Amino acid sequence: MNITKHMQPMNKTQLLHEGKAKKVWATEDPDLIIQEFKDDATAFNNKKRGSIADKGVTNNAISCRLFTMLGENGIPTHLVDKLNDRDMLCKSLDIIKVEVVTRNIAAGSLVRRYGFAEGTVLEKPIIELYLKNDDLDDPLMNEDHAVALGIATYEEVAVLKELAAKINALLKPWFAERKLRLVDFKLEFGRHKGQILLGDEISPDTCRFWDAETGEKLDKDRFRLDLGGVEDAYSEVKKRVLEL
Ligand SMILES: Nc1ncnc2c1ncn2[C@@H]1O[C@H](COP(=O)(O)OP(=O)(O)O)[C@@H](O)[C@H]1O
Ligand SMILES: [Mg+2]
Repeated sequence: MNITKHMQPMNKTQLLHEGKAKKVWATEDPDLIIQEFKDDATAFNNKKRGSIADKGVTNNAISCRLFTMLGENGIPTHLVDKLNDRDMLCKSLDIIKVEVVTRNIAAGSLVRRYGFAEGTVLEKPIIELYLKNDDLDDPLMNEDHAVALGIATYEEVAVLKELAAKINALLKPWFAERKLRLVDFKLEFGRHKGQILLGDEISPDTCRFWDAETGEKLDKDRFRLDLGGVEDAYSEVKKRVLEL
């Protein structure tokens, strides 16, 4: 592959990591990587596996649109350019092994663990930290665990939480305009040249979206819970994100 829309062509030189949803490629520029979005879908930490037609194309399009919007609103992100249907050119990050989950409405593990009724609107968003470690099933943790594990400093965790809150404040009304309720979402961050940038993706794989009028689930829960209509849900979100 040779993409010439940049100052210099951007080639995939070496596969650095094959994850559950994406491949990460090195490029000739050590500061840049390419995220290639796949159609593979997993849930419950790999216990359920499948594939969602065109998911990679959809999630790349949605993520690039959202990262562009967030960047325009002062959030530092790893997005450099959308190269093509499946490839996102990004600044290379030293990923901080913390998954930052922000919740506006009770669903999923908040219901299972704490007994909230699904759909309860939280007065104030809840921000949770999870250790990004598949072998350990991504356990819930707090800043003391992150620091004790040597994953991040207290200052860094504070920055992650502050960025998550700002991102939530930007995304919530943006999705509301598109008739989607942003129930909750997961973010990953990393270090790049002394700065913390938003990394990874934001998509129906990493967010819960409910249709504002019908309450219909339009995200990976359709796959997790075998609700059917998975492809249609993803393309509906893509349509609303790209059309407005
Ligand atoms: N800009 C970046 N630089 C380096 N690694 C990144 C960047 N953005 C995301 N990543 C990492 O690349 C991987 C993306 O592939 P994914 O399929 O999501 O993997 P995983 O199975 O670990 O969730 C993730 O491990 C993520 O932390
Ligand atoms: Mg991932």
